[in-house]
Amino acid sequence: FTCTATIDPAFVIAPVPHRLFGSFVEHMGRSVYGGIYEPGHPEADVNGLRLDVVKLTKELGVSAVRYPGGNFVSGYRWEDGVGPREQRPVALDLAWRSLEPNTFGLNEFMTWARQTEVEPIMAVNLGTRGVEDACNLLEYANFPGGTRYSDLRIAHGVREPHNIRTWCLGNEMDGPWQIGQKTATEYGRLAAETAKAMRRVDPDIELVACGSSNERMPTFGSWEATVLDEAYDVVDYISLHAYFEQHGDDRVGFLASADTMDRFIEGVIATCDHIGAKKRSRRRINLSFDEWNLWYESRFVGQDRLDWARAPRLIEDEYTVEDAVVLGNLLMSLLRHSDRVTIACLAQLVNVIAPIRTEPDTGAWRQTIFYPFALTARHARGEVLRVAVDSPTLYSRTLGDVSAVDLTATREPDSGDIAVFAVNRDEHQSARLRLRMGIDGAHEVVEHVVLGGDDLLATNSKETPGRVIPRSSTRHGIEDGFLDVELPPVSWSMIRTT
Ligand code: AHR
Repeated sequence: FTCTATIDPAFVIAPVPHRLFGSFVEHMGRSVYGGIYEPGHPEADVNGLRLDVVKLTKELGVSAVRYPGGNFVSGYRWEDGVGPREQRPVALDLAWRSLEPNTFGLNEFMTWARQTEVEPIMAVNLGTRGVEDACNLLEYANFPGGTRYSDLRIAHGVREPHNIRTWCLGNEMDGPWQIGQKTATEYGRLAAETAKAMRRVDPDIELVACGSSNERMPTFGSWEATVLDEAYDVVDYISLHAYFEQHGDDRVGFLASADTMDRFIEGVIATCDHIGAKKRSRRRINLSFDEWNLWYESRFVGQDRLDWARAPRLIEDEYTVEDAVVLGNLLMSLLRHSDRVTIACLAQLVNVIAPIRTEPDTGAWRQTIFYPFALTARHARGEVLRVAVDSPTLYSRTLGDVSAVDLTATREPDSGDIAVFAVNRDEHQSARLRLRMGIDGAHEVVEHVVLGGDDLLATNSKETPGRVIPRSSTRHGIEDGFLDVELPPVSWSMIRTT
């Protein structure tokens, strides 16, 4: 079937936000211990940081990393993770019912972040703690010196302040699973007061308030409205979290997860702007999509069944080619909302629902979902262009009619180089995409890679780490300002022109 689409360099949504390609490291399962940090592993450096993971994180193109949770942060005492290691206590992690050895904490994370060249995004505990502890942590991290907590940092061997710019005010505070769950009003007040005090410690920080844990929460929409009613003037972002998987036999609905993401984002934008209008505010609240990925939650045993292990194997989902196609499409949804979604974090980075996997007895490897993320992070540069798509539809039992082809495009203003990212969600037929590019003069295709089309259940594993990689394609043509591309059934493609 044929699908037509139009872009024009004049129709710009927004510059590609640097922090759209963030990720997430939580003290959960083997994300930290046995993931980014594994003293004694042949790949680890003197600090115990796994250099193979550092290398793959850079290759993935991760720009920012949220830390240390997640549900974990809602019971975390950050002081337990700083200072001489031999004095750090083993603690109960109530979120994942695991033992937390505290041999990795804020300063180790910052060493890793510098080495990996990612911007840190720090979360504070608003589950079991509050205003004072958030300010103490900020003072420890960002205050130059001469005060109790900044001097403690210096005594711990870290002379210069970390200057962490972005801070999350708690995590998923509406969730019944959260330690210290709150009502919207309770949380909104706490977030506002914490924000006010933290800004006094450091006026240059940016603050993210918790939105709903996901779009299916019964209070979705009203939670955001109530929280922002309280905190609109003192926070910069509201968070969104979403994990996708196939429900029942609705494969089309799964392949069109990006449509669900679009709707979620647009609902949150509407709610932010509704509160802004009510307050006659000139401020604009942006969106931090600081947890997103595919997660086969239906296979997860549940928090109540865990039993105090150290770094247990938790939700180490193995992703298929089809998953990678969906993940590539989710990135398109984030890109086309880049005027409002300016932070996003793929959750998570290593082992726990992650693009990078490790084992104690071998080097790190790339899951299928690594590729669309890495290629988009590397080549979605410059500005995101608005795309008008005219595509046949497919029917999803849960979503109704969805577009069979979805795409987005970016353009570097200086060079005029264009990157097109496209998916074909049709299970049976190839699509012929005919894209009017709105440009004069000669353009040529410099790269065309495809994931999918066949072997959709293939995965990469410890035994076969290189089984799935994107393949290059020559099934394209470019003439008179039109790009013609063949998109195989259930596939993700990237086409770059210069
Ligand atoms: O990423 C795994 C968990 O999912 C996080 O801890 C939590 O915030 C979300 O529910």
